[in-house]
Amino acid sequence: MQTIDYVTVGDCLRQLETLKQGRRTILVTDTNVKELYPTIFESCEHIVMESGERAKNINTYQDICRDLLDMGVDRGVLLVGVGGGVVTDMTGFVGATYMRGVSFGFVATTLLAQIDASLGGKNGVDFEGYKNIVGTFVHPEFVLCDPLFLKTLPQKELRAGYGELVKYAMLAGEDILASSDYIARCVEIKMDVVRNDFKEGGRRKLLNLGHTFAHAIEKCTDEYNHGEAVGIGLCVAAEISQKLGFLSVEECKKTIKMVEKYDLPTQIPSSIAVEELLDAVLRDKKRDKSSIDMILLRNIGAPIIHPISFELLFEAFKG
Ligand SMILES: NC(=O)c1ccc[n+]([C@@H]2O[C@H](COP(=O)([O-])OP(=O)(O)OC[C@H]3O[C@@H](n4cnc5c(N)ncnc54)[C@H](O)[C@@H]3O)[C@@H](O)[C@H]2O)c1
Ligand SMILES: [Zn+2]
Repeated sequence: MQTIDYVTVGDCLRQLETLKQGRRTILVTDTNVKELYPTIFESCEHIVMESGERAKNINTYQDICRDLLDMGVDRGVLLVGVGGGVVTDMTGFVGATYMRGVSFGFVATTLLAQIDASLGGKNGVDFEGYKNIVGTFVHPEFVLCDPLFLKTLPQKELRAGYGELVKYAMLAGEDILASSDYIARCVEIKMDVVRNDFKEGGRRKLLNLGHTFAHAIEKCTDEYNHGEAVGIGLCVAAEISQKLGFLSVEECKKTIKMVEKYDLPTQIPSSIAVEELLDAVLRDKKRDKSSIDMILLRNIGAPIIHPISFELLFEAFKG
């Protein structure tokens, strides 16, 4: 077992009882996790939300707050989100705001939640079609990442995590899955960045490698889940880095090979017109007026934040 800041990775689910420290504890989960792991919830008060991104909204937030009021929950409570990123984002947001903030922690049950979503204190919900547009920056008290949960995870959900895994490999310049404790290594990489830039003033932006185009692809098609879209986004970032003279041809090819190795797509699907995709990129919330900050690679393992003008972006695609 390994502990990195407030995150424990390994055979750690049994620690939950100790972490409660005698507090009234309410578990928050979704319908799938409750059904797959009923014993976790048997002798503990809990709230069950619908599963999936569509449930990560203000209505569900209100429902949970209403349940907490009905249950007479006061500030001494410990809320524990047991689930994937949807559950941890929601529980964190409720935890950070209910009665101006109560204690909360997470048991992350998807690969994506264990290596990314549960870490770093960003919590929130989607609103009016914008992802994570209403939320808070508050760290959880603890995160437990037990690989036990990954045994029941469908392949499609594993691939959602692989996209982030390759992202970490590109950021750190290591083939992470080759190591037996790859979850802990990803946690280390993310927490190291977050520790030095909690509110995303600078370095934390590096964690968005591959995400500018991933978000745009997700807006244009339902064909790919987030991890698959990140796979394509990483390849696009590598290709733009190469076109701008940062990344060598060999390193660009290496990036694409790495994405392929994890069985993720590497190319923008032909069903999306370039104009449509760039339009989605430019409408993304991270842009300013004349350029967007893209995360590019100077080398594998050496990411940089680089403002790229709209003209350059169009040129990069015209070839
Ligand atoms: N806060 C952050 O910093 C951050 C970072 C990255 C992603 N996110 C958010 O994370 C969310 C995506 O997370 P996700 O991919 O975990 O999605 P998710 O929570 O929707 O989980 C995916 C599916 O797997 C099911 N599931 C969960 N655990 C399971 C298990 N052990 N076995 C079988 N099925 C299981 C869920 O019920 C769901 O149907 C997005 O909303 C995204 O915005 C947040
Ligand atoms: Zn992501």
